[in-house]
Amino acid sequence: MKQTILVTGGTGFIGSHTTVELQEAGYEVVIIDNLSNSNANVVDGIEKITGIRPAFEKVDCCDMEALEGVFKKYPKIEGIIHFAASKAVGESVEKPLMYYRNNLTSLINLLELMPKYDVKGIIFSSSCTVYGQPSPENLPVTENAPIQKAMSPYGNTKQVNEEIIQDYIHSGAPIKSIILRYFNPIGAHPSALIGELPNGVPMNLIPFVTQTAMGIREQLKIFGNDYNTPDKTCIRDYIYVVDLAKAHVKAMERVLDKPECEAVEVFNIGTGKGLSTLEVVEGFEKATGVKVNWTYAPRREGDIEQVWGNVDKANKVLGWKAETPTEEILRTAWRWQQQLRERGIQ
Ligand code: UD1
Repeated sequence: MKQTILVTGGTGFIGSHTTVELQEAGYEVVIIDNLSNSNANVVDGIEKITGIRPAFEKVDCCDMEALEGVFKKYPKIEGIIHFAASKAVGESVEKPLMYYRNNLTSLINLLELMPKYDVKGIIFSSSCTVYGQPSPENLPVTENAPIQKAMSPYGNTKQVNEEIIQDYIHSGAPIKSIILRYFNPIGAHPSALIGELPNGVPMNLIPFVTQTAMGIREQLKIFGNDYNTPDKTCIRDYIYVVDLAKAHVKAMERVLDKPECEAVEVFNIGTGKGLSTLEVVEGFEKATGVKVNWTYAPRREGDIEQVWGNVDKANKVLGWKAETPTEEILRTAWRWQQQLRERGIQ
């Protein structure tokens, strides 16, 4: 058995998939989650897939006392993967203080407890949102591209949290950190036992596509067909959530076991390939044989025209590569949606 890892937000979309990959790689996992945007029965799905039930505690990372209780109860925790955060861009504009309080306090509490409980490494979930719209010569965007002013309080919490980690480590804190900047995570576990469960009307593209295909939503709106891209729709780098989860395993191995790992390292985690919104919708129809009722609609405020990642650093240094073909990823998203229907959830 490898080290014990604390996964905050472990019942969420990326957290649950990462817990599966960590367990399959031999790590012991303790999940904490406040269940504000997920369900405790996700732990059952993880157990069904891996045959191992991770420890689960309903704890909010903002609650310092409860959080410290977790480190006391599980003294073998050596690494943390910190997913727990509020992540709805629109909501963050309406409730900025809630976003700053939740996303910043959680990280600060964890960082403060790490030296006390001898926790050596933390992987932080960041986002390509920190790059804003990169200039054309900076596409695909590398980790060295300039950070641009955040377009929402949510985006700003990612930027500020990255700086908090940097500042803390530069102050001499005896910890290491790997910051992963994700592009657009999509899909679900091939078993369809875990996946993304959006609250209410989905904001993200793939859940909206699968719900429209299922007839839950009448029509998908493709936001904007007047962008300066080949088919005039936006371009993103869609990364399979299972591939993304595996990147966390590599990052954990590096931060805990590789002496050459620097105190803070930053990696883009994407496919290195941009897909337009239209290509995704057409790709979904082709992969599943299911038609999606869609129409063009005006641009969505705050959307970036095009961004995709240069992932050479993760390929070389982490020894990780996104390997799942897009068609297969889209099929996993559809299987998950079908499974939700069978279980009477959506
Ligand atoms: C969003 C967040 C980003 C976050 C990421 C996590 C914004 C502005 N950014 O990225 O900070 O890290 O989610 O996954 O919200 N689209 C449609 N119709 C829809 C939904 C989406 O055409 O109904 C298009 C969007 O215009 C965009 C693409 O699909 O071009 C992807 O959208 P989405 O899944 O919401 O992700 P992002 O906006 O890229």
